Amino acid sequence: MSVNSSTAPFLRLGVNIDHVATIRNARGGSHPDPVRAALLAAEAGADGITAHLREDRRHISDDDITRLMSEITLPLNFEMAVTDEMLQIALKSRPNACCLVPERRQELTTEGGLDVRSMSNHLPDFVARLKGEGMRVSLFVDPDDEQIEASARVRADIVELHTGPYCHAAIDGNQAHIQAEIDKLARSAQHAAQAGLEVHAGHGLTFDTVHAVAAMPEVVELNIGHFLIGEAIFGGLHSTIGRMRALMDKARASATGQASA
Ligand code: PXP
Repeated sequence: MSVNSSTAPFLRLGVNIDHVATIRNARGGSHPDPVRAALLAAEAGADGITAHLREDRRHISDDDITRLMSEITLPLNFEMAVTDEMLQIALKSRPNACCLVPERRQELTTEGGLDVRSMSNHLPDFVARLKGEGMRVSLFVDPDDEQIEASARVRADIVELHTGPYCHAAIDGNQAHIQAEIDKLARSAQHAAQAGLEVHAGHGLTFDTVHAVAAMPEVVELNIGHFLIGEAIFGGLHSTIGRMRALMDKARASATGQASA
């Protein structure tokens, strides 16, 4: 494929399977199986699988991580808090990538980005230990210049930009607010790429909100979970992921002026 300078790289879809485990855990037992969902996601066009092993194990379990590592062929993006316990699990499991997120026990989901600036004493060593074992390290951050610069300073490979505030604005429907959040994400994506960081994005994305983020040329991966698993109740997992994949490809093609298939 010939690539000109305005052609953005391929946009990868990471499917977060946490909430398959949420449903399984509501009744105990083994159904529905998140590993089966991961295998189906691969068939449907996902490029990676994301799973968050939370400190309270509310959804994904240690055994799920072991099984994902042995049963799936797609790269695993292991979301984790910056704790010694998670570091040991990552060093033992050796996923393709680790995405470091803030974690509070009482939160319903990851609520804000990692405050990389305030962790500048601790993070460089934490990041280096993961990278030393061949894992790529991603930091989940708000679209904020100082957090992006701090992420480059601690030698992360990747920043994942928090799209939650944009998606909340989209639910509220105030166009000026929506556009302000999109502009913030677009500026941060450019800033991060200029700082030498690979740019990912995610949180709260849906069929309705994915276009604006997928069209940002610096973004190379989106991680999407809750909407896909919820929507799969109505449309089936294969078709829901296929539709998201198609919307992402269309947005990327329109941003680069290429015809979409
Ligand atoms: N990226 C990160 C770092 C997250 O913590 C989450 C939620 O687990 C996601 C992406 C996916 O968000 P959602 O489930 O809202 O699509």
